[in-house]
Amino acid sequence: MSMERQSPFQRSLYINNMLASHCLVNPVDFTTESVWGTSIVSANGEDWKRHRRVVAPAFTTKMFSRVVEESTSLYSSMKDEFGSDQVVTNLRSLLHRFTLVMICRCGFGMPVSWKQGGTSQDEIDIFDRALSVASSTLVHRLIFPKWVWSLPIKSLRHIDQSWKTVLTLFDSIAASKQAQYSSEKELGEEHAKDLLTKLISATEEDSKYTLTPSEVTGNMLSLLFAGNETTASALMSTLVFLGLYPEEQEKAYQEILREVKSIADMDLRDVANLKYVLACMHEAQRLVPATINLPRDVPEDMITRSDRPVQKDILIKAGSRIIIDTMAVCHNPHDFPNPQTFNPSRWHDVPDHDIIMFGSAPRMCVGRRFAQTEVVCFLAHFLWDWEVETVLLDGETREECFEQIMAGASLYGTAFGLGEVPVRIRARS
Ligand code: HEM
Repeated sequence: MSMERQSPFQRSLYINNMLASHCLVNPVDFTTESVWGTSIVSANGEDWKRHRRVVAPAFTTKMFSRVVEESTSLYSSMKDEFGSDQVVTNLRSLLHRFTLVMICRCGFGMPVSWKQGGTSQDEIDIFDRALSVASSTLVHRLIFPKWVWSLPIKSLRHIDQSWKTVLTLFDSIAASKQAQYSSEKELGEEHAKDLLTKLISATEEDSKYTLTPSEVTGNMLSLLFAGNETTASALMSTLVFLGLYPEEQEKAYQEILREVKSIADMDLRDVANLKYVLACMHEAQRLVPATINLPRDVPEDMITRSDRPVQKDILIKAGSRIIIDTMAVCHNPHDFPNPQTFNPSRWHDVPDHDIIMFGSAPRMCVGRRFAQTEVVCFLAHFLWDWEVETVLLDGETREECFEQIMAGASLYGTAFGLGEVPVRIRARS
């Protein structure tokens, strides 16, 4: 990639060059390997290539069509939570539930419903309850030493038990999918609509790109945790910024009216035409990237080049650990003029590999299109029904509110994002 190219993304491309370098590796102590074994997120080198070669092709057009169908059906259940002229104070947690159920349905083919199922002993309900605990405690699981979980403290035991339930049920769900796959194999590969069935089909392949059953479970957990809070964070910030910038919301709404003939029957083609809505998502992600830093180990000496204030080569010594600061890259005024402004049109016609909030090749997010489809689909439904307005305090200006919102951004679970921000919604006539 030439550094001479004059584009607003020049510096980002430069960072991407660094990220794209095959000589950088994911630090083992920063990964989930100790929690659920090797998977696409934790592996490096040839082993990572094997995982990637199996996981990436599981994201098919058929899968994205399913994301559209399930988003539509799930949104219609979720809609009961909203009323006209209501100030919604728990939007973040509603969106988190939305993305969790989406990954359960489209990822594992599990019929998890919108409402959590009370105290039922049904396998899905048990899984659902345990998963909610596990999904909010991954960071604890990663950083606490194993002995902590044996301490006689009720809350720790509850977390530990929830994790064991999730891991056991994942194994059992994978085993029953395996049996189902074997009996339906003659229906062909195209029959497999969820990710899990696709991964299971890879356990039966007679090539060097196969997975063991425990690697299937590891990859499912990786997809779940990489895709849930990140997507909820993107959805939350998009809605909050659209609520703060009504003129941008109007452009997105007009595009939805123009491109979607029937919202109830929206399909993948309609979603692909919602380019401004997608740009709104990207701009919100730029302001509040879900993954704010990417750690890498440097196994061999490498040279990288700084661009400003003067161009010069920099030697990074073997054995160093570097952190790519996504937040700084996304707020660099040389690449993004007026970086503290919500300006979706800056994402017009930007190629996929420049959407740096999803990382960069070779380890670019494998679920990027899944997340984009889910978010755009949700926004189309939501904006079709509601006008959203981010609530300002008395006498507060938009700029002051923007600053307050940005100051409240933090790490929630595994993803960086906005906290609860109250938004008023009004039914569109
Ligand atoms: C808006 C939502 C999302 C954002 C912002 C996001 C962001 C990222 C980023 C920045 C990376 C690169 C990490 C690195 O280089 O170390 C990544 C990797 C990954 N993402 Fe996402 N992601 C999102 C949604 C998803 C979804 C929905 C899934 C799965 C269904 C997913 C699965 C993965 C996996 C498995 C990897 C590891 C890829 C590899 O190492 O080869 N992500 N994601």
